[in-house]
Amino acid sequence: MTDNEATGAVDHLLTDRVSAVIDRSAYGDWRSIATEDAVSLSYGFPDPALFPGEQLTDAVATVLQEQGDEVLQYGTDSYADHLEDVVEERERDRNIPFDHNDVLLTNGATHAIDTVCRVFLDPGDVILVEEPTFMGALGVFWNFGVEVVGVPVDDEGLDVDALAATLERRRERGEQSPKLLYTIPDFQNPTGTTLAGSRRERVLDLATEHDFVVLEDGAYSDLRFDGEGVPPLAAMDDSGRVVRVGTFSKTIAPGIRLGWLTAPSRIRNAARTVAAGGTNTFTRSIVGRYCAEGHLEDALPELRRAYARKRDRMLDSLTAQMPEGTTWTEPDGGFFVWVDLPEGIDADAMLEDAATRGVTYLPGSLFYSGEGPGNTLRLSYSFVTGDEIAQGIEALGTTVSERL
Ligand SMILES: Cc1ncc(COP(=O)(O)O)c(C=O)c1O
Repeated sequence: MTDNEATGAVDHLLTDRVSAVIDRSAYGDWRSIATEDAVSLSYGFPDPALFPGEQLTDAVATVLQEQGDEVLQYGTDSYADHLEDVVEERERDRNIPFDHNDVLLTNGATHAIDTVCRVFLDPGDVILVEEPTFMGALGVFWNFGVEVVGVPVDDEGLDVDALAATLERRRERGEQSPKLLYTIPDFQNPTGTTLAGSRRERVLDLATEHDFVVLEDGAYSDLRFDGEGVPPLAAMDDSGRVVRVGTFSKTIAPGIRLGWLTAPSRIRNAARTVAAGGTNTFTRSIVGRYCAEGHLEDALPELRRAYARKRDRMLDSLTAQMPEGTTWTEPDGGFFVWVDLPEGIDADAMLEDAATRGVTYLPGSLFYSGEGPGNTLRLSYSFVTGDEIAQGIEALGTTVSERL
């Protein structure tokens, strides 16, 4: 690499939008802190022991034998088409009406979010997000040169009174009206909280009153361990302003890069137009075959049981190890627990100590578009074993106690 390449000889040719974000990573520098010896409670990755390697191997063989020429060609084949039907069927089971909605397969939920942004956002537009929220989505929003406005989350998910107040205040001041609200209503990343049913109705009322689109991210919706499911916003909406995104990353494997969006047909058609490149016909066919064999439905109960056990291990360990003044959420599903440390402890500054003691986590500040409270952090129980969780939380408890 020449010096010019390294230093950016063509930086002046970059778009304004890229210039603004090129040195800004949604993930910060935390990866460099993760060490081999520390238990990683930072990765929100699925448990690799739960990947369906054998069934995917069989699916690859069958698909290549039966439809090799088609799946390796441009276009689609019957297993790939079957996957669209599977997604539609599963969305119908959630009571999402298909008289005016349609499904579009994407290369993961993040690609679906990016596609929705392409459909709705011009530079300078305003988007509302939960605060804290999934940093991968924040990274996408920053790419679009929009103003990101945060609305707080409490134990019941997005604080709808704060949302109403934000919208009202903007209206009174004559500020630009938001075009999109991004919400993760089920087992939110990073807090693990679930948006209460009555709040979902209020969100939809506000969307109609203030004329914005709701971008509902259901990445963890299939992974409920306890309690009754709450209907998705897309099932409660009759105004045609909800786009729901989903993914197989958490229930099959992230490496297959397959997700979808469900949207009013007109929006879905716009999304198909701007989602350049199409989806990967090959993996789409593999997963189509995997689902046709009934493997996804068979796997879900075991996934829920396995992650529930890890969640329990983490909550028990927190109760046993954390000093007084520390509080945390108790998720009914998903991968994450959000921790509030005693006032004055800075989770960013504490990370290096924690890594030395044997645990890493993600500081809460990563999940805010602007400045967030310093004394919060996200723990993930999904990637590591039960014993590692216990070991990691013990190290965390010691680190926090020392700081006090
Ligand atoms: C809320 C949320 N949405 C989307 C994703 C990413 O999904 P995908 O791998 O399908 O892009 C994640 C993964 O971390 C997530 O937590």
